Order: sequence, then structure tokens, then C-alpha cells
Amino acid sequence: MIENLIDAIAKELDGDLSDVNDLNKLQEKKAKYLGKKGPLTQAMADMKNQTPEGKKTLGMRINECKVYMEKKFEEKKRQIEEKQLEAKLKKEKIDVTLPGLKLQEGSIHPLYQTIMDLEDLYISMGYTIAEGPEIETDENCFEKLNLPKGHPARDMQDTFYINPELLLRSQTSPVQVRTMIEEKGKPFKIVCPGKVYRRDQDDATHSHQFMQFEGLVLGPNITLADLKGALLEMARCMFDKDRNIRLRPSFFPFTEPSVEVDVSCGICGGKGCPTCKGSGWIEVLGAGMVNNNVLRMSGYNPDEIQGFAFGIGVERITMLKYKIDDIRNFYLNDVRFLSQFKEVK
Ligand code: PHE
Repeated sequence: MIENLIDAIAKELDGDLSDVNDLNKLQEKKAKYLGKKGPLTQAMADMKNQTPEGKKTLGMRINECKVYMEKKFEEKKRQIEEKQLEAKLKKEKIDVTLPGLKLQEGSIHPLYQTIMDLEDLYISMGYTIAEGPEIETDENCFEKLNLPKGHPARDMQDTFYINPELLLRSQTSPVQVRTMIEEKGKPFKIVCPGKVYRRDQDDATHSHQFMQFEGLVLGPNITLADLKGALLEMARCMFDKDRNIRLRPSFFPFTEPSVEVDVSCGICGGKGCPTCKGSGWIEVLGAGMVNNNVLRMSGYNPDEIQGFAFGIGVERITMLKYKIDDIRNFYLNDVRFLSQFKEVK
């Protein structure tokens, strides 16, 4: 009788599994047949009524039945998984002829692009890059640059003071001072890119925060001709190889002689046009031979070491290069403006 019962369980299972086609259902069935309240538990309950011989046979049969059912569940599980995988593969078929989704790409900010171009150029000429803090001491930003307190030339740069000794640097020239002190009288060539701040009213050509790219070369027998060469290279690299530069006398307290540097106008080729206001030249930077006082104050002997310095307005040359007419565009973060410079190399 028990034998029949066990055969019946196996048979019922076969019928019960035939329409199961997902793993959750299968799990339910497994609990039903092999769980604590399943038919085999009931069959076991009959054990106590058996003779020793009968117990042995019943035990074996129950075990066989259990193994049989486990095998069935395993098989069914594999079948369901295979079917699911097939269905998934069918659904996920990739049509390689469909157009791809465009990734939203960022772009390099035009000012940063200019700085990277300038860095590449000067590194290729053997300069290293130096940086300094945007919050500076009055000493580094002015005094050690030959601008003692009360000097009228301090009015050239209307400065944001934090207290009498600390300020937001109004120029990158204090990085010159920092590097000279660090190098202790030795020759070097550096460029220093960075942000500077001035109390200016923002308009199309002024911004209270802008960028400078400073250069300083110190060594024996450095002359104004070296400065001219370093800047001519810059003009030709940043604009085009037909550009020329000219030096006009100017004044900066930290350089002597000081010059204002113009680049020949790229629109009219130097003949004169509205962009260069008819002169054929466009002013791009200030420069000069490092003032002996500046050298001495930071531990250099002007009889042995001379040098030149220059300070490029990064916005100014970027505006000239890409024909941008309002400096505020750089700081509005309008992607319609910024994404135009994607291809710029
Ligand atoms: N620091 C000057 C300025 O901000 C520019 C400059 C730098 C001039 C180096 C001469 C030498 O106007």
C-alpha cells in the first residue's frame, strides 16, 4: 500500500510540475513536496506501524522517492532558467544599425585653454611652473616689488584688503618674490598662471577677478633682447606665425626699464582697422627688466644676476584670439558660449 502511495506521489509531482514555468512557483511546489508538511513526512509517520523488515523497505522507498523528486526539481529548474535566458537573449538583441546616443561632453574653458597653451610653450623653452596663494601679504604683493606703503603707484591697482597686512593679490608678481626667496640667489625661469583681484567695476573689458600669466627669468647676462625673443615666440604661438611685436616705454615700479608690449593686428595685418583703432598694433601685456631694488630685496646681487619679467592678461589675449567682445562671457558659465571652444586645440 505504501509502495502505491509513493508511486502516486511521484506521479502527482510529474503532473503538478508540467505547467510550472517560473522559479517562484517552482519554489512553492518544492516546499509543498519536500517541506516539513509534505507527503513524505506523512509516509514517515507510518514507520511506527511497520515490522523491522517493513521499516527498512519503507525507509529505502521514501529515500528513493526523495531523490527522485529532488532530481525532478533540479531538472525543472534548469529548464526554466534556460527558457528565461533564451527569452532574455531574444529580447535584448542589439540592432547595431541603430544610431548611437550622443554623450554630453564637457569642454575646456577658453581661459584654461589659453593657460595650457602658454604653459606648453614656456615649458618647451625650459621654464617651470610656479604658483602662489590668492590671499597674499602686502609685503609680497607690493613692498618687495618696490612699492612701499604710501607709494603713489599703488593706486595703479585698486586692491581688496583683508586687513592692513593681507590682501587678495592684485597681480601674479608676488609669485616672483616667493620664488626668488626660495631660490636664494640662483638663476631660474618660471611662469606663474593664476587669478588676481581688483576693485574694478565689471563691464565689457573689466572684471574684479581675472587671470594673469606671469613670467620671470633670472640669470647672468639676461638682456631686453631675451625678453623680446620670449614674447615674440608667445605672440606667434598664441596667434599666428606672421605676427610681430613692438615694445613701448612704460612704467612699473618692479621693472626698469619697463615696457608695454603690442602685437601686430591680425585683422588688418598691421595696416590699421577698427579693431586696432587704426594703429596696426594691439596692446597685450606689461614687462620689463627686473628692477635692481627688487633683486636686492629678495637676496639677488644685481651685479651678477639680471632678469626680465612679464605679465600677460589671459582674458585679453583670449578675447583677441577668439574674437570675444565681452570679458563677462568668461564668467557667466553659459554652455552656449563655452561649448563653442570644444574643438580648440
Ligand atoms: N604685474 C603687472 C600688472 O599687473 C604686469 C607686469 C608683470 C609688468 C611683470 C611687468 C613685469 O600690471
